[in-house]
Amino acid sequence: MKVAVIGTGYVGLVQGACLAHLGHDVWCVDIDAQRVAELKRGEVPFFENGLPELVSKEVEEGRLHFTTQLTDIVRGEMPEVVFLCLPTPYGQDGSCDLSYIETACRDLGTIINESAVVTIKSTLPPGSNNKIKQWLGNDQIDVASNPEFLREGSAVADFLGPDRILIGVESDHARDVLTRVHAGIDAPVFVVSPETAQLAKYASNTMLASRLSLMNEIANIADYVGADIKDVEKIVGSDPRIGDKFLRAGAGFGGSCFPKDVLALEHTARQHGYTPRLIQPIIELNRDQPLRFVDLIKRRLNGVNGKRLAIWGLAFNKNTDDVRESPALAIAHALLDAGAVITVFDPRAMTSARRELGDRVEYASSALNAANDAEALLVLTEWDDFTQVPWAQVIGYLRAPIVFDGKNFLPHDELRAQGFSVHGIGLWQAPSDQA
Ligand code: UDX
Repeated sequence: MKVAVIGTGYVGLVQGACLAHLGHDVWCVDIDAQRVAELKRGEVPFFENGLPELVSKEVEEGRLHFTTQLTDIVRGEMPEVVFLCLPTPYGQDGSCDLSYIETACRDLGTIINESAVVTIKSTLPPGSNNKIKQWLGNDQIDVASNPEFLREGSAVADFLGPDRILIGVESDHARDVLTRVHAGIDAPVFVVSPETAQLAKYASNTMLASRLSLMNEIANIADYVGADIKDVEKIVGSDPRIGDKFLRAGAGFGGSCFPKDVLALEHTARQHGYTPRLIQPIIELNRDQPLRFVDLIKRRLNGVNGKRLAIWGLAFNKNTDDVRESPALAIAHALLDAGAVITVFDPRAMTSARRELGDRVEYASSALNAANDAEALLVLTEWDDFTQVPWAQVIGYLRAPIVFDGKNFLPHDELRAQGFSVHGIGLWQAPSDQA
């Protein structure tokens, strides 16, 4: 089946490579000529497990093509489906900026006909499809919604083995095309209206984000009442109605999706005349959570002005080089504003972090180098590398054996046994460990 994908960012490239892997003839378009040249050589401009290998293989075997020319997608034959995988950034008020989608649709409308189903992968507010039809300039073209549920770091595996496939369509033709394009993937398929698909996507991310904010809030309470959040998480998660996934408290969650989609749901509801009461606090709590952690660090170190601190982990999640909305950056900026001198290390995200932190911090070539002579170590991303470091050596590098664990994931008992003073979020400590 001939397929076009517009936009080769994180969503589009995973989409294109995985559909080629399923056997389709895939044409990916991007306006960035340098990116397209790199992709043709099989070079992926960001870190995602398994993606470079998949892109190289599919390019080599002739199923995956990259171009800067939109008209290339209609050469020979019309694609049966065109996936739009373009950014939909949000403004301060949470509104979704659809300008990239608009430009692409206006161009697309001049070259495709009704046999192609225009399918939106980008996360869009429910009810956007009418605008898309207007921009296409042809209301006979099917506009469908097919939201993604990919986690950065495991996006290829998530695409090929998803929990569900969500298809929002208005016609049998669109349903048929989108069902066929996913043939070969073993997962339940939900066929609903475009509005339901779009709301379900916002609802999924808002539900996950609310779990995290609620658990973070309970962790903050644990600090006050002297309870241990790690045990609370296990006890709460053992109820099958709740489940134990996505319950780990920490210094805030990040990424390109949760904050954006939660705000956009709030904004969409307001635009339609409904004022949500539960959604705004999810975002407010998450904005404050890294700063609470900074307060803890300042209290424990009696201020940070002039003090050298090490940060391990800048990416918002492990297995990615993405630092968008990363709590690690919020923590770094707040500590720098308070006068700290910071050296950072991340196994993958040094280049992307440099774009955000610039010359404000020093960049180390290894975790141990970052720790050298620091008065405390902050571990802010759950990279496996950081659980596997030789902690006995780390203690020799640090000026003081103090660790702040922003993800509550390190082996705390082990570290304490080795002489570290360990701090996290909502971790109960025997008074003897609190020094
Ligand atoms: C998320 C959704 O999971 C995905 O379905 C959607 O399509 C896009 O948004 P992603 O942002 O890539 O994916 O990563 P995810 O694994 O969901 O993590 C988001 C944030 O939550 C990270 O900062 C992570 O560290 C944090 N998190 C996750 C926690 O703080 N605690 C947890 O228990 C789980």
